[in-house]
Amino acid sequence: MTWKIPLFKMYWDEDDVTEVNAAIRTGMSWALGPQIPKFEKLIADYMGTRYCLTFNSGTSALHASLLSYGIGAGDEVIVPSFTFIATANAAKFVGATPVFADIEETTFGLDPADIEAKITPRTKAIIPVHYGGFPCRIGEIKKIADEHGLILIEDAAEAFGAQVDNIKAGAFGDSAILSFCQNKIITTGEGGAVVTSNRDFYERMKLIRSHGRPDTLDYFSTTEILDYVSLGYNFRISSMTAALGIGQFHKVERIITKRRLDAAYYRSKLQSVPGITVPPEQPDTRTVYQLFSLRAEKRDNLMKYLEEKGIMTKIYFPPVHKTHYYQNVLGYTCKLPVTDAVSEDIISLPFYPGITRDEMDFVIEAIQEFEATSP
Ligand SMILES: Cc1ncc(COP(=O)(O)O)c(C=O)c1O
Repeated sequence: MTWKIPLFKMYWDEDDVTEVNAAIRTGMSWALGPQIPKFEKLIADYMGTRYCLTFNSGTSALHASLLSYGIGAGDEVIVPSFTFIATANAAKFVGATPVFADIEETTFGLDPADIEAKITPRTKAIIPVHYGGFPCRIGEIKKIADEHGLILIEDAAEAFGAQVDNIKAGAFGDSAILSFCQNKIITTGEGGAVVTSNRDFYERMKLIRSHGRPDTLDYFSTTEILDYVSLGYNFRISSMTAALGIGQFHKVERIITKRRLDAAYYRSKLQSVPGITVPPEQPDTRTVYQLFSLRAEKRDNLMKYLEEKGIMTKIYFPPVHKTHYYQNVLGYTCKLPVTDAVSEDIISLPFYPGITRDEMDFVIEAIQEFEATSP
């Protein structure tokens, strides 16, 4: 469907094209090229972590993280249900059990009290999500992880650049994952990364990312026979993908500034509309608004009304525990009242760095009209 105002658009410029063209024009090393460590260094420095490894998606970054921590059958991993399904599936990939904890209504992140309630002797890890660029209560969650000796993997797929107390969301945990899929803060079309300051974990991740082969030499330009020391996958990105990431990275602060300004505009116009609640920013945090989500009492009718005007909106997220796979195939029957309540009235509006004031006004006026006229 062609929308008058889509949910998101890519933000790109000629620097991206130049970076990718330059990688192509080398005519060499389209795999394992120097663009990859360069992109990784930019991310690690920005995040304030010692290491970064890129992956071909945020999902493979999650999968590799759980493998690298040795999480497997018999282990439980606490995750939100109010997330993209990959967060929970990562536990399933390695034969572990995702255990859903509820979220709290201020940040839409995991509720520390419910995490405590869900910890059992089998719990190995917690994967909190920073929803839509809103940092979750990561300080409290880290304290719980430390007290119980649990691994903390931050899912910062949607929150590149978000901060709590001037520390990047993703730099609190033992490690974190990022996504560069096309609707994220910066994008390479598909792509992801893991950041960590733990050297052993990083070294294991490198083996998992690339067939279990130590990458001391460039596989494609050496005649030496390289050994394979463990089971591994091909989770790598291409050199062109990394080149695009470099181009995108240089715009990250510009993108975040624009998103924050536009979010403030939506907020100023929508927060007093009856029937609408705009989630507040938390003190001492920098929200990066990968999504602009609000809660609407008549959400489903509002979505239809906006759709008729050519405005795309989306529900981020229907709860994972209510998907066919989790409910009917795996037999999950969880009670997550806040997750259920938020999923029932959450709606994400069109939002992207190139959005114009006219486009935002069109969306705002449509919402005001709907709320003034609908029964
Ligand atoms: C919270 C969250 N976790 C994980 C992922 C997975 O990332 P990717 O789409 O790059 O595999 C996403 C992406 O949509 C996400 O939003």
